[in-house]
Amino acid sequence: MERPKILHIDISLVDNAVTLWQKGGLVAMPTETVYGLGADATNGEAVARIYSVKSRPQFNPLIIHVADARAACRYVEWNDTADLLADAFWPGPLTMVLKRRPRSRISELVSAGGETLAVRVPSHPVAQQLLQAFNGAIAAPSANRSGRVSPTTAEHVREELAGDMPLIIDGGACEVGLESTVLDVSGEHPVILRSGSVTQEMIEKVLGKKLATQHTPVAPNNAAHKSPGQLESHYAPSIQVRLNASNVAADEALLAFGAAPLTGAGKTLNLSPSGNLIEAAANLFAYMRALDDTKFRAIAVMPIPNEGIGIAINDRLQRAGAPR
Ligand code: TXA
Ligand code: MG
Repeated sequence: MERPKILHIDISLVDNAVTLWQKGGLVAMPTETVYGLGADATNGEAVARIYSVKSRPQFNPLIIHVADARAACRYVEWNDTADLLADAFWPGPLTMVLKRRPRSRISELVSAGGETLAVRVPSHPVAQQLLQAFNGAIAAPSANRSGRVSPTTAEHVREELAGDMPLIIDGGACEVGLESTVLDVSGEHPVILRSGSVTQEMIEKVLGKKLATQHTPVAPNNAAHKSPGQLESHYAPSIQVRLNASNVAADEALLAFGAAPLTGAGKTLNLSPSGNLIEAAANLFAYMRALDDTKFRAIAVMPIPNEGIGIAINDRLQRAGAPR
């Protein structure tokens, strides 16, 4: 028999979760849609650990969870459409994609290097308790391993992720049981990127207009909007990217890895001098951006071990290095 929804958790449990988040740890939390695998969105290494635990082979951007619309405004550029929709559907299962604030402290890994950020205000009372106490932004994908279905009870999360999660907060069975609707409101015309229980019709009614049809992805045969990693808005360096470099020239920038970086580059940034893949993932997007300078001919990238989160790092680097 399914457990009923839990409305309130003990303050000491809330304190536990908040302390773990502040220390860069992971906490699974209930929401009204599905359970989320949460980390402090401003902590790059904590966010990298999310990808590592999920064994995601790619850096898909993550949703940040905040307590209310006012908190959302700290991280994204708010607009009138977002305001209308927040009034109608927040707290609740609508995620809105908006432009990142230029100086938002959210890790670049959360938006996978992109210019936008997905935000959501969950209505589950336990999620509300946790987010209000944390008073920040929690990046949280569904708390399942990559390729598995999203968990709707704490038991599901435990079965899949037990060994990797220091804390799984039980909020009972999720009411909605289906992931949130994802709506891109960063441009002139809102576009649904993922369908959910907040339907196109409901959104159109609030906005008083029809939604535009979904835009065509650049990559052919691509399951479209569902993999924003492939969208044109996704960050790609403007200069060439040369992978698996075993030497580097003075007119190149070097993205190094490990204790023995190549010498001779015009500029070098080391993803992780100690060879730690979690640290490397946390630095990846910010360092690519920092080296993307037209005074260099190319960004040379040293080999990254293709294991664990290194697989997602290499996926991203290969796409950055693909011929354009
Ligand atoms: O209901 C939900 O949304 C659950 C709970 C935990 O909140 N979370 C969830 O997260 O389903 P996840 O990571 O499994 O799915 C997030 C979706 C993905 O399809 C991702 O591509 C999209 O949101 N997304 C995230 N950031 C985006 C962005 N900046 N632009 C476009 N799509 C984005
Ligand atoms: Mg998911």
